[in-house]
Amino acid sequence: MRLDKFISNAGVLSRSQCAKECRAGNITCDGMVIRDPSANVDPQNSVIAYKGEAITYSEYVYIMMNKPLGYVCSNDEPGELLVFDLLDERYRKKDLFTVGRLDKNTSGLIIITNDGKSAHNALSPKHHVEKKYEFALADPLSEEDRISLEKGAELADGYITKPSKIIMKTDKTGVIILSEGKYHQIRRMFASVSNKVVELKRTEFGGIILDGALSPGQWRLLTQQEITLFTNKR
Ligand code: URA
Repeated sequence: MRLDKFISNAGVLSRSQCAKECRAGNITCDGMVIRDPSANVDPQNSVIAYKGEAITYSEYVYIMMNKPLGYVCSNDEPGELLVFDLLDERYRKKDLFTVGRLDKNTSGLIIITNDGKSAHNALSPKHHVEKKYEFALADPLSEEDRISLEKGAELADGYITKPSKIIMKTDKTGVIILSEGKYHQIRRMFASVSNKVVELKRTEFGGIILDGALSPGQWRLLTQQEITLFTNKR
């Protein structure tokens, strides 16, 4: 495999950065400096290092993004801004998908990966993966409605939601924690008590917390600890 392909697939450097770092003598294969980014390497049997740190190869990519408003969680939707457009070139053709979807008008934590099995498990109702959202409502929520929504809301299509937790901060704002993810669930839950969600932001997914350093539209790779949280639901 080409050295620059290996390094960009591992998410460490883009191909052009790799060429630059090779020229600077910062990339080694089994301790030998490699200056040619197109050199053939065998990642299974050799240790490739960048600035002295070994690069481990993973066929999977795990990305945390702070989804901005106005973008859609889809790989192809003509006329729409796609969350994938915000990624670097090196991730564009890696068969990535979002783990579940946030509405166009919802912001916050979205996980993007090519690990289908872990994504499936994270979304499966069997695994009760909790998702936390901050919301703002058009009208005050009564304590009676809060309690009844927590127990289970009957949506317009007759579906009764699983128990959730709703913690109010003011009479119109709060946090909701769900362990399921039906289409437009939160908006439909509040609609069932004749209220309206005016702002919605996901801040947590299965113990992974949105990195406060990421502005809307920014993203980073998951840390090893976050990857473990995500893949543990297997
Ligand atoms: N519930 C919603 O209504 N929208 C989202 O984007 C996520 C949960």
